[in-house]
Amino acid sequence: MRHLLEPEDLTIEEIDYLIGLANDIIENPEEYVDICRGKLLASLFFEPSTRTRLSFESAMNRLGGRVVGFADPSATSQSKGETLTDTLKIIEQYVDIFAMRHPQEGAPYLVKKYVDIPIINAGDGGHQHPTQTLTDLLTIHHYKGDFNNLTIGMVGDLKYGRTVHSLVNAMKRYKNIKFIFISPEELAMPSFIKDELNSEDYIETDNLLDNIKDLDILYMTRIQKERFDSYEEYLKYKGVFVLNEEKLNRAKDDLIIMHPLPRVDEIPEEVDRDSRAVYFNQAGYGMYIRMALILFLLEIHPKNFTPPAAKPMEDKKIYHIDKKCSNSHCITQFQNIVDPGVVVDSFGKYRCEFCNEEVL
Ligand code: NCD
Repeated sequence: MRHLLEPEDLTIEEIDYLIGLANDIIENPEEYVDICRGKLLASLFFEPSTRTRLSFESAMNRLGGRVVGFADPSATSQSKGETLTDTLKIIEQYVDIFAMRHPQEGAPYLVKKYVDIPIINAGDGGHQHPTQTLTDLLTIHHYKGDFNNLTIGMVGDLKYGRTVHSLVNAMKRYKNIKFIFISPEELAMPSFIKDELNSEDYIETDNLLDNIKDLDILYMTRIQKERFDSYEEYLKYKGVFVLNEEKLNRAKDDLIIMHPLPRVDEIPEEVDRDSRAVYFNQAGYGMYIRMALILFLLEIHPKNFTPPAAKPMEDKKIYHIDKKCSNSHCITQFQNIVDPGVVVDSFGKYRCEFCNEEVL
């Protein structure tokens, strides 16, 4: 049983396989129209979404499968007080695969303990968003040819932006990757991501203008309004980075400008006319890579496609200590979880088994 909760659940070879398959689907869509007949995807969106939900649902429909689900959890028995895990144990009886988005960090890691069908994490709070990363990888592959020798600037809300967490998680495995993390200090990349990098492989700054010239990829993000404790707090950072002509004039000709979207004020519309802006095409790739992912997780292998030898999912060893996760967005704060545990990272630090926050 395979799940996709974070990019490192896939090996590099499996990512190559998915990219190859997605490209074949783009070139030969008619070969795939019936391949998922009889299969059902549950599209479970406990948090708002446009691109991710509709691209998952379009993906399954284009594969000839069907979709059930909801885009608004207030219409489910959650509103009667049913626990998340009970709700999902029920839906498991009806479907073959879950795509689930949830506002609480670590939610799909909890669900994994209870269900026996593949789970795709379609975004868990400010934690991870692995299918956006697959979308980003397909985009990078299209424009750059491969994943090595790239300087990647990530700009905006790196603290709460789950897309950048997952993208670092995926890209750090390739050769000669340099990250430039550009954010206000208060919205810096969290340590659960940075600790996994060599210190010489990234720099942190709040200056986009001076650093844009070095970039091969500029990955813009919005300030994640819904994750702040108050609207006043959000207003402090709204509009801190805006991409404009002055900055773009300093950038390389073969830069690509990416954004997971939605944008708010960080990329004005006039930038859309710059040939380096690829974010709308990026969104389009999302459907094709999700088609490939659904086939892979359902173990449906099209003609001429043999997936790499399966890597058994290594369950990290879980320890039970006398301390609790203090991340106020973590699933452990909202669900009554018996004896939540910690994992030990490569530096010997204890981290919450669900949201990866350090437990002190
Ligand atoms: C992102 C998300 O939901 O994290 N959107 C998306 O899935 N394309 C980015 C965002 O909301 O800022």
